Amino acid sequence: MNRERLNNIFIVCGEGYTFSKFYLKKNSVFLIYVNFPDPWPKRRHQKNRLVNLNFVEEVKRTLKQGKTIFFVTDDKETLKSIKEQIFSSGSFISFFKDPYYVNEIKNYGSSYFDSLWRSKGKKIYYLRFIKKVGTEGFEPPTYWSQTSRANQTALCPEHINFNLKKSFL
Ligand SMILES: C[S@@+](CC[C@H](N)C(=O)[O-])C[C@H]1O[C@@H](n2cnc3c(N)ncnc32)[C@H](O)[C@@H]1O
Repeated sequence: MNRERLNNIFIVCGEGYTFSKFYLKKNSVFLIYVNFPDPWPKRRHQKNRLVNLNFVEEVKRTLKQGKTIFFVTDDKETLKSIKEQIFSSGSFISFFKDPYYVNEIKNYGSSYFDSLWRSKGKKIYYLRFIKKVGTEGFEPPTYWSQTSRANQTALCPEHINFNLKKSFL
């Protein structure tokens, strides 16, 4: 932070769900990144996964309407599980068409686990979901295309202000 002269960052070393629940206001978050959440593949450990129905409810509560949450993972089971949790809430649409991920996003940035898995030749999956606008089903703003409305995918506002990004991990 000092080296890059960043003075608009607030870092919390804590449990993501708890932080969100007790510190973030309703409809206050512009952008969320969840990069490489631990997969917890064993059945008895699944309760430890960050992305579960409670977490998704928190995202629904805190994210502003029409704003984005990104998930990045190398793990196919995590990919499947995130899609299930997010779609089951009924409050988000995917920015990407079926199968709802891409394997590259230009200028997304990297992280320790991104470099690690790429160095081992692993495929990376990027998901991007947008919180629906309106409380009664999907009411896309005019800048989202009609075609996208039909197949429940959407284009997103052109501009994302990365200065406003919020990150759990
Ligand atoms: C696989 S690492 C990814 C780290 C980093 N995001 C990256 O891309 O290199 C998963 C991270 O999630 C953190 N983590 C796991 N469960 C969490 C939770 N419930 N709340 C906050 N952080 C959590 C772990 O401590 C670990 O640092």
